[in-house]
Formats: sequence, structure tokens, C-alpha cells
Amino acid sequence: MTQTLDMPLRVAVIGYGPIGRLHARAIVDSPSATLVAVCDPDPARRDEARRQWSIPTYASVDDMLNEPCLDAVTIATPDHLHVEPALAAIARGCHVFCEKPLATTLADARRMVEAAADRQVHLSVDYNRRFGAGYRQAWQWLREGAVGRLEGCLIRVTDPVPPAKVARAPHVMLTTLLVHFFDLTRWYGGEVGQLCARAEETAPTGLIHRLTVSLELASGANAMIVGSYRAGQSCTREWLTLVGTTGSIVAENIDQRVILASAGLPQRVRQLTQQATELAIDDSIVAHLREFIDRLVAGRAPSVSARDGLSGMQLAAAAVDSLTSGKPVEVQIA
Ligand SMILES: NC(=O)c1ccc[n+]([C@@H]2O[C@H](COP(=O)([O-])OP(=O)(O)OC[C@H]3O[C@@H](n4cnc5c(N)ncnc54)[C@H](O)[C@@H]3O)[C@@H](O)[C@H]2O)c1
Repeated sequence: MTQTLDMPLRVAVIGYGPIGRLHARAIVDSPSATLVAVCDPDPARRDEARRQWSIPTYASVDDMLNEPCLDAVTIATPDHLHVEPALAAIARGCHVFCEKPLATTLADARRMVEAAADRQVHLSVDYNRRFGAGYRQAWQWLREGAVGRLEGCLIRVTDPVPPAKVARAPHVMLTTLLVHFFDLTRWYGGEVGQLCARAEETAPTGLIHRLTVSLELASGANAMIVGSYRAGQSCTREWLTLVGTTGSIVAENIDQRVILASAGLPQRVRQLTQQATELAIDDSIVAHLREFIDRLVAGRAPSVSARDGLSGMQLAAAAVDSLTSGKPVEVQIA
């Protein structure tokens, strides 16, 4: 899987909703790739893509995969519809950039990861938070030793209440939102050894509106993730605090502001942008997809691997087990 690919990389988008549109834009704007097709069962979305990009569109994934000579696909279908298109694309030898979560069950995520390994294609999952400017700055400061050894990580995220088509399970927050923060926790702090999840607030519909997950990392550090759905909130808001042995880092709303407080040094504040979190999310998705394309062209594996995708799903599944049993759960990241 290390061979370089001819430029421009021929990429198709599967699922042309708000995120699929963003994928298409990232591909079109990349000097290393060309958008060759879009697939969506919704005729209005196909019309829109055809008008915008003058490319063929397809109602069925199989029809699209039979047609053009594709190098890679991106998948931006609803969460529960990632698996089949991904398996079909992998079977035809395409590399896959899949929106998070890889799947809605751990078993399906495993099938995808195993299929990609068998077919020797790359499968990446869009843990785009790693590409947010504030989160990257925090990662760099941490790696430079600006706060010493990581002892604790606190993440707080609030999101609008998801529509019924997304809220397909009481604990959907774990797979659709908190997977990002499971991944950030691993990215900053390494593997998780144990976690304990608690539903703090449940709506009359049964949907968990507030969830806390505490994690013990193999390094000895601790993490706490607090996720909430808030009625009336129009966009995601999120805050990260990393506490080290000699200081702390705070990152606000992905790319707005990062603050470094390091023992004996003046506080450093980097005001990065003033933009709304939605735009930060869009920017980080585009940056991630552009990196995925560039790495494929260079014959390099994606920086967010299929295993990272699977690890997020393992942590979500462990959190469901903990919610059910009311007990901490040991985690073995395979
Ligand atoms: N990385 C992030 O920060 C981030 C942010 C928002 C959403 N997402 C993820 O992106 C994905 C898409 O989100 P969205 O808001 O654009 O969803 P959406 O439901 O608005 O759009 C999905 C599109 O997929 C199409 N579709 C359904 N089944 C299909 C199939 N079998 N083949 C092809 N197309 C199909 C639908 O017709 C629709 O146009 C979801 O998995 C979501 O969780 C990621």
C-alpha cells in the first residue's frame, strides 16, 4: 500500500448532503485530485451536483462503481449508511475516506477495517478535529513539552438536539458526536485502559441529552468528556483543557483561541479566528480530506487510520456497556 498514485487522483463522493458538498468542494479545490462523480439517491441532490460540477451523477453506488475508473471515494451518507458503500468501494479496490463514525456498530466497523486490510486499500475516518487550528496548536505545545507530562484532559461539548433521523438510539451521542473526542483524547494522551459512562440527563423521548465519560489512560493520565444536547442551540460549541505537570492549555471552539499557561512563563494567548464553530468544522474537514488526497498521491498512509476509526467505535461500544451495567469497563484497543 505504499505505491504512489497518478495525479490527479480520481475521486467520487457518495452522499451529497451538506458534508458531501464540502467533500466535493475540497476535491475540486485540490490540485492533486479531480471530482469524477457524485452518487445520491435523491434526484434533487444529483441535479444540484450535476449543475454545479458538470460531472456524471448516479442514484446507486454499484452503478457508479461500475462506471468510471476511480481511485478513491468519500462517504458522506447518514451514519447508519456508511457500511455498504464502503464495502462496495473497497471490493473494487478504491481507497475510502469515510465520515465519522465508521459505522453505527462495532461489528460493522470491524468488517470495514478487515475488508480494507484484505483488499490492501486505505480506509480513513474523518476525525477532523485533529485538523482544527486550535487543537493542532495544543497538540504542538504538548509535544514540545510546554506543559510537561500530560496528567489530565477535560473536554466539554454542547450540540443542537439531533433530528429524529439521526437520533436512532438513546446513546447516539456516543457515535455521532463523542467519537471525535474519544479520538482527541487518544491523540493527545494515548490509549485508554478503562472508561466509565453516565447518562446525566435523558429526554422524555429516551434520547440521552447529557453524558459524562471518564477515562483512564494507559499512561496514567485521566480524561473527562462531558457532552450535552441543548435545545435552541444552533451550532456546536466545544472546549478542551489539557493539564500537564508544569502547566495547562485551553483550546476554545476548535480554532478560535488557545491559551498556554506554563509555570514561570508569561501566559501565551493565540487568538486564531473569530469564526463560528460550523466554519471551523468545515475548514477542518476540508483540511483533512486534502491531506488524505495528498498522502495517497505521495504513497503515504492516511494520518487517521482505519484502526483509529475502529478505536473510536470500541470506546463508544465500551461506553454503551458501561451505561448499561453502571460500572467501569476495561478497554482493550485491538
Ligand atoms: N466530521 C464532522 O465534523 C461531521 C459534521 C457533520 C456531519 N458529519 C457526518 O457526515 C455524514 C453526512 O452528514 P450530512 O449532514 O451531510 O447528512 P445528510 O443526511 O444531510 O445527507 C446525506 C446524503 O446522503 C444521501 N444518501 C443516503 N443514502 C445514500 C446511499 N446509499 N448512497 C448515496 N447517498 C446516499 C442522502 O440522500 C443525503 O443527500 C454523517 O455521517 C455525519 O455524521 C460529520
